[in-house]
Amino acid sequence: MPRATLDAIRELTPAIMPSILSCDFGDMKSEVTRLTDAGAQALHLDVMDGHFVPNLTFGMPMVSGLRRHTDLPLDVHLMISEPLRYAKPMVQAGADVLTFHVEAVEDAAFVAKEFRKLGVGVGVALDSDTKLTDLEPCLDFVDMVLVMSVKAGFGGQSFNPISLEKLRLLRDNHPELLLQIDGGMNTETIVLARDAGCDLFVVGSSIIHSDDYSEAFAELDQAIKSATATRGVKA
Ligand code: DX5
Ligand code: ZN
Repeated sequence: MPRATLDAIRELTPAIMPSILSCDFGDMKSEVTRLTDAGAQALHLDVMDGHFVPNLTFGMPMVSGLRRHTDLPLDVHLMISEPLRYAKPMVQAGADVLTFHVEAVEDAAFVAKEFRKLGVGVGVALDSDTKLTDLEPCLDFVDMVLVMSVKAGFGGQSFNPISLEKLRLLRDNHPELLLQIDGGMNTETIVLARDAGCDLFVVGSSIIHSDDYSEAFAELDQAIKSATATRGVKA
């Protein structure tokens, strides 16, 4: 079932995936409604363990809580030291796509294959200061690469253009992979990312800190459409 969701996500591209990281955690039901009304077609959930990254967010109870309130695909970004330990509980909680960090594991190909057995879409994330070649051993076993355009751990940071070169190389060499970018997205950086061949755009503060989620969403959507290159996964 979740892998069918992955095919649906592929059809949605290019697509904005709002990150709930900067939402009001005391009112998540309303936040999900606001994001859905604004046009969200999937939600990005940032799980942080205070160990792999110096910040703590939430675990399975938030994922299952959101699952009760929405049918949107849940894209879970695991910024945790032991992704394999929590993979199955995350899928049981309702994750459709599960992304682990290549820096967190010894054998990324093994982890990707184990995630696959759970029936979810599998992503591997690359932090902003990690080199692209570190991904090579696992690329045959993942559906998506998440290229971090900030250092993983916090919302509201500035975009690092090193991500663009990584996206270009991945797009050129792996036309079948879904490419996702995360961090510092705004109406300018999202165009650069689309031009570099990106498919999925994680956006936190540009939407959540705006007065009007719909307006922010529409402006970002318009910016994606204004990109000159459209070298996405479907192109
Ligand atoms: C950062 C998270 C992001 C974060 C992005 O480690 O992975 O998903 O929410 O937030 P903005 O868009 O504010 O950079
Ligand atoms: Zn994220």
